[in-house]
Amino acid sequence: MYAFLAWLQTHAEGLPEHRIANIFEPRSTPGDMERHIANLTLGITGIIFVVVGGLIVYTIWRFRRKPGDDSRQEPPQVYGSNQIEIAWTVIPILIVFILIGVSARVIAAIQNASPPHSTLKIRLIGHQWWWEVEYPDFKVKTANEIHVPVNADGHTATYLQLESLDVIHSFWVPQIAGKTDLIPNRVNYMWIDPKEAGIFFGNCAEYCGTQHANMLLRLVVQPQNEFNAWVAQQAQPAEANPVDPGVAQGKNMFESLACVNCHRVQGTTATGVFGPDLTHLMSRQTIGAGVLPMNHQNLRDWVNDPQNAKPGCFMPSMKLTDAELDQVVSYLESLR
Ligand code: CUA
Repeated sequence: MYAFLAWLQTHAEGLPEHRIANIFEPRSTPGDMERHIANLTLGITGIIFVVVGGLIVYTIWRFRRKPGDDSRQEPPQVYGSNQIEIAWTVIPILIVFILIGVSARVIAAIQNASPPHSTLKIRLIGHQWWWEVEYPDFKVKTANEIHVPVNADGHTATYLQLESLDVIHSFWVPQIAGKTDLIPNRVNYMWIDPKEAGIFFGNCAEYCGTQHANMLLRLVVQPQNEFNAWVAQQAQPAEANPVDPGVAQGKNMFESLACVNCHRVQGTTATGVFGPDLTHLMSRQTIGAGVLPMNHQNLRDWVNDPQNAKPGCFMPSMKLTDAELDQVVSYLESLR
């Protein structure tokens, strides 16, 4: 049911979604280069598998027990062949060095590539268990969804600055690029240039605590004009004085609660930084870094008790009454 709702949600955006994160169908330059190493490695190890497996099968068959064999008689014992020992030492060393060399070349090519002129900068910060996404040039903060323009002209890339606020996480959108870790007290960089519009699914690829598996990520690749519209919309602050009396009441309720210690709503007194920025909460497709599709009932259930959908997460249940819950949710739903 949730999957179906999520499906409806993503199709509403009009972008094809790539739910199967297949590294053999890369849609970005780094992913493409890494696929070549994967193919080479699979090719070499495939040949080793066939040779070794074939020799084992051949030996079992060739030297099987035949009628009339004397079971007490030892087979001829052979040891100490210099040629064979040198061969099975040198060949694997050569194979290992070929793979190291090819991998090092691709890693260097990706790392040393200078990003094209029109490069979007994004700061991605790992938290237990969600992704903070910041667009420093636009003063935009969002969470768990990275919007980037498609590389239609061959000169558009996105440069990611990866950091962590707590433990080691790892950024991985398999169709776009290999994994890069987000490490506390260290800044890592990577770049991507998705060549096709669509929604690409990713996740945290480094065990980071109880909800590691629910640290999901969507990369929304949009045509440049749609991305521009999105980022302009995200840069807008929330309404300081909502006209709708229900929403105004909900805003007061929200601001009177501990919500504001962790969440920011730009343009209001909510300035927390520990949890996701909620300024444009309703523009996102999921709640809780991918655990629930965004809709009224899920949002209400989530605020009522986040521990139910995401046990161990750092958002507590505020123990609100039904009426308070309705007010807070009606305010959150005004954050578009
Ligand atoms: Cu973050 Cu695993």
